[in-house]
Amino acid sequence: MSHAAKIEFVPLTAVPAAGAAKANGKAKGVATLVIFAGEDLNLGKLTGALLGSDGEALVKKAAGAAKFKGKNASALDILAPAGLAADRLLVIGVGASEDVKKAKGKDATKAKPRDFLGLGGYVLGKIGDAPNATIVFDLPHNSQDAAVAAAEFAEGATLRNYKFDLYKTKKKDDESTEPVALAIAVEDPAAAKREAKGRTAVAEGVIIARSLVNEPANILYPEEFAKRAKELEKLGVEVDILDKAAMTKIGMGALLGVGQGSGRESRVVIMRWRGDKGKDGKSKPIAFVGKGVTFDTGGISIKGAAGMEDMKGDMAGAACVVGLMHALASRKAKVDAIGAIGIVENMPGPDAQRPGDIVKSLSGQTIEVINTDAEGRLVLADVLWYVQDKYKPLFMVDLATLTGAVMVALGNEYAGLFSNDDTLSERLTEAGKETGEKLWRLPLGPSYDKLIDSKFADMKNTGGRHGGSITAAQFIQRFVNGTPWAHLDIAGTGMNAPANDINQSWGSGFGVRLLERLVSDYYEGRAHSQKD
Ligand code: BES
Ligand code: MN
Ligand code: ZN
Repeated sequence: MSHAAKIEFVPLTAVPAAGAAKANGKAKGVATLVIFAGEDLNLGKLTGALLGSDGEALVKKAAGAAKFKGKNASALDILAPAGLAADRLLVIGVGASEDVKKAKGKDATKAKPRDFLGLGGYVLGKIGDAPNATIVFDLPHNSQDAAVAAAEFAEGATLRNYKFDLYKTKKKDDESTEPVALAIAVEDPAAAKREAKGRTAVAEGVIIARSLVNEPANILYPEEFAKRAKELEKLGVEVDILDKAAMTKIGMGALLGVGQGSGRESRVVIMRWRGDKGKDGKSKPIAFVGKGVTFDTGGISIKGAAGMEDMKGDMAGAACVVGLMHALASRKAKVDAIGAIGIVENMPGPDAQRPGDIVKSLSGQTIEVINTDAEGRLVLADVLWYVQDKYKPLFMVDLATLTGAVMVALGNEYAGLFSNDDTLSERLTEAGKETGEKLWRLPLGPSYDKLIDSKFADMKNTGGRHGGSITAAQFIQRFVNGTPWAHLDIAGTGMNAPANDINQSWGSGFGVRLLERLVSDYYEGRAHSQKD
């Protein structure tokens, strides 16, 4: 990645002596020093000492002129006062004490701690293209573990710094070609580094997912996608690839039907990270399943031209699963996890399936294909059946850019959550709140289910105009065979969602941090019980 940030932790005590330039080795260009200020410009003890009384007076004067009051998520960007080993001083407002800030007059015991991930992203955004910066991680008030906070800050900065520019051959004049070098000055650099290790693995996973989503479909077609997933073997992940012949043999008629109009062969990839083998090597895995339509033209039920280019991102679910498996394996999570992705290209053509065709799924159930653009559910049907049948997982969570209707319902803020299991559903919702990758549960039920009964086959692949996301989920539920399951419809969040402090990329990598949190909070090193 050309825009990877180089982040290191240095001791706070090194800052006054060494300053930004030295902390980053050979400094090129402007050296930025970042400090934090609370409301009414109160500074941390060390920051005050670093600036000295003259420096502090200068900052106050500049703040007055710029009407900077240290409000949360505000910044004052000035020339560094003389005596500081930096050219530029960036004062970042962090507002009033964290507990007061978030509680907003409500029950103060319910106050959330400061969002250091977001702060890291915000600060990196303010640093901009400056090639090197030292962050004096000395907040005026912080009730959290400083090493954890600094590690979260670093993760946020890494996520913000990601940019997909693989296909840009020209740089703008003011664009730096150097990777950003950040020195985060903390009290205990060794502790921060330890805390950052797992978080780096997660950030890498998010970035892998984003890049897969951003890649164009002429480069990333099913076979190439499978090849990229296979790279996880380097981390100790077992990777099996089913090609067309293997899928034909076992009867994945639903998935293969979607891919049959494309010149590119379909693939299914099964990844397994066995970080917990359980007692006697008999662990029950947890499973994540992703929709990987590398391009969705709609097939014979072809889409309109406007915005069709976005359908290169119709594999965001599969990308998330690959990113998640990277994160789990890279940080050696104590969990037995399966990642399974169905990768196809949905194209019209002489061999494409037609509306009215009836296909036989791996489960044996037959499906009347009413609309060839409702292809994601056909792909998931065979992969979910395969996974529950072969691995008997504790639960399955699938992710898919499945319906435009979920954007009508929830916009780009929440992904739709559908589930047959309240515990799994609550855990996912909680992990969503913790990570900011939010989920909103929508209903399932028999009256919705009957909308996909077919005149000619066991079911049809569309349920009419109303409740489009729900009937899609009902369809998928017919292939989980009673296994505890949740379906995340990420059509509005996996791609083209609004940029924020920690993401400026079209492909967002949505779901990697969410599911990684689900695993670490509930399923790691606990022999996989749904009860504890
Ligand atoms: N991949 C699309 C859903 C989608 C649309 C994702 C826009 C992201 C942005 C999916 O395969 C699809 O085409 N769904 C149809 C279903 C319909 C034919 C029942 C839809 O939502 O219109
Ligand atoms: Mn479609
Ligand atoms: Zn699709």
